[in-house]
Amino acid sequence: MKTVQMKPDVTNSLLGFGCMRFPTKSGKIDYEQTMKMLEYAYSHGVNHFDTAYPYHDGESETLLGTFLKKLPRDSFTVSTKLPIWKVKKYEDFENFLDEQLAKLQVDYLDFYLLHALNKERWEIALKHNVFKFFETIKAKGKVKYIGFSYHDDKETYQKIGTSYDWDFCLQQINYIDYKKQQGIEGYELMAKRNIPVWVMEPLKGGNLTTLAPDIMNEFQKVHPNDSSAKWAFRWVHTLPGVKLILSGMSTLEQVVENIKIFEAIEPLNKEELTTIDNVRNMINNRIKVACTACNYCMPCPNKVNIPRNFKIYNDAYMFNNLASGKYSYNNFLQEEEKSLNCIECQECLLKCPQKLNIPVLLQEVTDNLSI
Ligand SMILES: NC(=O)c1ccc[n+]([C@@H]2O[C@H](COP(=O)([O-])OP(=O)(O)OC[C@H]3O[C@@H](n4cnc5c(N)ncnc54)[C@H](OP(=O)(O)O)[C@@H]3O)[C@@H](O)[C@H]2O)c1
Ligand code: SF4
Ligand code: SF4
Repeated sequence: MKTVQMKPDVTNSLLGFGCMRFPTKSGKIDYEQTMKMLEYAYSHGVNHFDTAYPYHDGESETLLGTFLKKLPRDSFTVSTKLPIWKVKKYEDFENFLDEQLAKLQVDYLDFYLLHALNKERWEIALKHNVFKFFETIKAKGKVKYIGFSYHDDKETYQKIGTSYDWDFCLQQINYIDYKKQQGIEGYELMAKRNIPVWVMEPLKGGNLTTLAPDIMNEFQKVHPNDSSAKWAFRWVHTLPGVKLILSGMSTLEQVVENIKIFEAIEPLNKEELTTIDNVRNMINNRIKVACTACNYCMPCPNKVNIPRNFKIYNDAYMFNNLASGKYSYNNFLQEEEKSLNCIECQECLLKCPQKLNIPVLLQEVTDNLSI
């Protein structure tokens, strides 16, 4: 497993385990399978685990704590994230942290993040004196390093990124989205100041692994046996300021494959980068909705399964197979989950980090896929 010197006292695997997309059974985390995946990852060199307060309705932190408890504390690093949108007063900061430490069954966190910052959430943080909180928890030894994850525009990123001496930051970066949100400018702002950049959604939540055959052919002309996941991870690794790549693996096969990739991962060369440019253009011409399946918009009060509708719609176009999309829409979605049940109440709108106009796009799905 390729490792990186993140901090003078921290060497971590370049691949981090994102604990947001564990396999599920009847709506709950599949405990047995997830434990197998975590154990495989740890025993093959993955030593960083990333979770957050809301993942799997709070169960991700709890399960991860049960797993980490069995390991020597100095053999792994762990990060979780403060649900800043729930903070109503200064004391809430430390109350949440204490609750998270208890769930993770650790005395301290290696890394703590303000979760999914945007303009509004940053204002909440400032209003409640977040800098005092940072100094307090570091002084008490509850947290070693402090950073933030982010979903908003470039301007807000510049403001937040330069307003504190951050120890690291987490950004959404992949070869399709490199201009969105904080963009590559956000990456450069931090990399220039030697602030380690962590990457989330390197596979665009899995979207970059289901490419149409004509697109895959572009990759196979160069490396006949390399998967689309390998190309996507290698593209991220080409950015030298990236010190951790988080992938939310949801099957044991994915864990095995990704570990194999990261055992000998190399940045892309100039010719390979040109191939990525071609592939990017081809994909951009096909994706209909830039949904990353982060689930932040869920649950919809009217029971519409927003990300599933978008995934089926995107797949239909990426694979140039509308008939298959119609079949999936009409057979694999529960009746109440279908886009046609959207009543345009707009409750989901502000929750989407990608700023998608969800009701309008759901109508587009209905128009194209509903019989
Ligand atoms: N702070 C934030 O705001 C925030 C937001 C998003 C993510 N994150 C963190 O960042 C982590 C990484 O983001 P992400 O989960 O979106 O990463 P990602 O690697 O882009 O997406 C993970 C998904 O990709 C697919 N996948 C992974 N490896 C694969 C392989 N070898 N072959 C085929 N498909 C593969 C799986 O999709 P299928 O399940 O469809 O097979 C998996 O669920 C998260 O788990 C979370 O810890 C943080
Ligand atoms: S606008 Fe539609 S999808 Fe969004 S919350 Fe309302 S009913 Fe659900
Ligand atoms: S519509 Fe937006 S919030 Fe909902 S899953 Fe997709 S990207 Fe996430």
